[in-house]
Amino acid sequence: MDIPKWEEFNKFFKSFCIQNLEKKLSNNPEIYEICVYPFTTGGKFFRSFLLYQTADFIIQKLSKDVKLESFLPLAFSIELIHNYSLIHDDLPSMDNSDYRRGYPTVHKKFGEAEAVLAGDMLLTLAFEYIANSKFEPEKLIRVLKKVSQYSSYRYLITGQFLDIWMQKGRLIKNLENIKIINFYKTSGLILLSVEIPVILLNPPYEIKYNLVRYGYFLGSLFQITDDILDYDGLYEVLNIKDLKNLAKNIYEKIMKIPVNQDLKDIANFVYNRNK
Ligand code: IPE
Ligand code: IPE
Ligand code: MG
Ligand code: MG
Ligand code: MG
Repeated sequence: MDIPKWEEFNKFFKSFCIQNLEKKLSNNPEIYEICVYPFTTGGKFFRSFLLYQTADFIIQKLSKDVKLESFLPLAFSIELIHNYSLIHDDLPSMDNSDYRRGYPTVHKKFGEAEAVLAGDMLLTLAFEYIANSKFEPEKLIRVLKKVSQYSSYRYLITGQFLDIWMQKGRLIKNLENIKIINFYKTSGLILLSVEIPVILLNPPYEIKYNLVRYGYFLGSLFQITDDILDYDGLYEVLNIKDLKNLAKNIYEKIMKIPVNQDLKDIANFVYNRNK
């Protein structure tokens, strides 16, 4: 990642995720083995780190007396939802991918029905972690609503439906449609990672506005660089020069938003990433 803070976060956060899964699923080691597998095969923990750094930014800006650790269960929830979405995305009836992060996908290693169920497990568990986190109940209810909406009809699942229908030829593969799909299937969860600390810490309007714009553009930028790396999505309908220009325009917009250096470093990573 080349961001020392992020490397440090990942080392710590990966064991946090694994320990928590172990705690929940230790009664059934076979189920635990399948559910923990995606957390042991790498992954950037991008959304979790983004959530954590957004919380840090707001806390510092407002000199709030809130411990950053209280955001860990929420960061874990985002990672649970992200991994569930990838397990299902890789299934034979979806993208039919045999490998993820250089390792066999969950269905390749453990079976298709097991992969469906492991995805269900991770998604559902995410809501328990949100509900148990130590914030005011009124705010947590708002977070729960937002997480549920963004992971379903507002973004992620709608995006996946449209993506599948485009793969099946039911939707024309053009720039406009791919931009919409990308925004729905990927940007929602990234925007959510910024919006959760915004709901919980409730900064003044101007900070909220800047952070939501930051999350919105960062989500778009993330899927563009993903498409460039995967040679799919926007890569199929734009020449590489135009695609890189599109990324540059969004990146420049992000750099004008008044956020701290840590959040700018994340945007730099997304813009320049090569994996
Ligand atoms: C991959 O996301 C799937 C997309 C939404 C583009 P990441 O690139 O964040 O996946 P990992 O978790 O780091 O493997
Ligand atoms: C994945 O999009 C988006 C979600 C799982 C919501 P892709 O299908 O493009 O992601 P990769 O390329 O398999 O990581
Ligand atoms: Mg897909
Ligand atoms: Mg895929
Ligand atoms: Mg992709």
